[in-house]
Amino acid sequence: MKSRYLITGVAGFIGSHVGEELIRRGDEVVGIDNFYSGRRENIEFLQSISNNNFHFLEIDFRDFEKLEKEVFQKYNIDGIFHIGAVASVQKSIEDPRFTNSVNVAGTLNILELARKYKIRRVVFSSSAAIYGDEPTLPKNENSTIAPISPYGYEKLIGEHYMDIYNSLYGVETVSLRYFNVYGERQDPSSEYSGVISIFEDRISKGIAPNIYGDGNQYRDFVYVKDVVKINILAMEKEGIAGEKFVVGTGKTTTINRLFEVVSKKHGKNLSPNYLPPREGDIRESVCDSSKVKKVFGFSQWIEFEEGISRL
Ligand SMILES: NC(=O)c1ccc[n+]([C@@H]2O[C@H](COP(=O)([O-])OP(=O)(O)OC[C@H]3O[C@@H](n4cnc5c(N)ncnc54)[C@H](O)[C@@H]3O)[C@@H](O)[C@H]2O)c1
Repeated sequence: MKSRYLITGVAGFIGSHVGEELIRRGDEVVGIDNFYSGRRENIEFLQSISNNNFHFLEIDFRDFEKLEKEVFQKYNIDGIFHIGAVASVQKSIEDPRFTNSVNVAGTLNILELARKYKIRRVVFSSSAAIYGDEPTLPKNENSTIAPISPYGYEKLIGEHYMDIYNSLYGVETVSLRYFNVYGERQDPSSEYSGVISIFEDRISKGIAPNIYGDGNQYRDFVYVKDVVKINILAMEKEGIAGEKFVVGTGKTTTINRLFEVVSKKHGKNLSPNYLPPREGDIRESVCDSSKVKKVFGFSQWIEFEEGISRL
């Protein structure tokens, strides 16, 4: 049976990929965005693949009344992918009241309307930022939570609100803690995987990229189409209300390896500029993806080289 889903942040990187998949498989998508960081081209693209099953509304989800009137009173929504946010640690350090208004108060608006309109489930885009720089690796769902930025706290509060709406009001909620997501349509200024876009850009033009430190620092880069699959599984799987999942491949990729893979793709033989390490960079990050495998039966992560070849 086809469903009707609300996607917040549908003009953004991950939101547009979730929208694409749902539209292509024939579900109905109501998408909202205020273009804070989202792009109009992404909406035009989703409209181009839609078969009258995509409705876009320019709405800031901090505006409770407008959201209720234009979305919840008009459309009978089955589930919500709450993906929209100010996804920037830096911005949250500069202006925490603003990022809190979107990432916390805005999230509460979504949950409150989910309660009022008896929406079955909300799938929330959380972040590995809730773990801060606590060094124990790999991170799993029970690892110590110790955010070190307003953004990390805002995501953690979002998760706590998800829990409360689940236990107190019976809105089913699932939180997904993404590691470093990359893929087509990513904004090169992304703090998560911007390094990939920067290397792509420079190496393809034959310019040597900068590597801060020895290049052996690593990340858990996860391809966006896998993140889409986990979102849909998190929406559809029965019996997981209130659960949290780390979303990453469980494999490490060093910056040196990224350099090699992108160089190979473009057939370039450059030497990177090694510069002193940047202060405040988290050196290593990787998750243990066994809960996703156990609960969803999902372990076919796209290999890093394959993901890079699709960019
Ligand atoms: N990209 C990653 O690697 C990563 C990692 C961890 C968590 N996340 C989380 O995943 C989600 C999506 O991230 P992304 O990389 O696609 O970022 P993005 O900036 O591309 O997407 C966020 C979208 O939310 C929209 N938005 C912001 N404020 C809004 C508001 N008040 N009302 C309506 N729309 C609003 C933006 O315009 C944008 O389109 C975010 O919640 C982010 O915190 C992303």
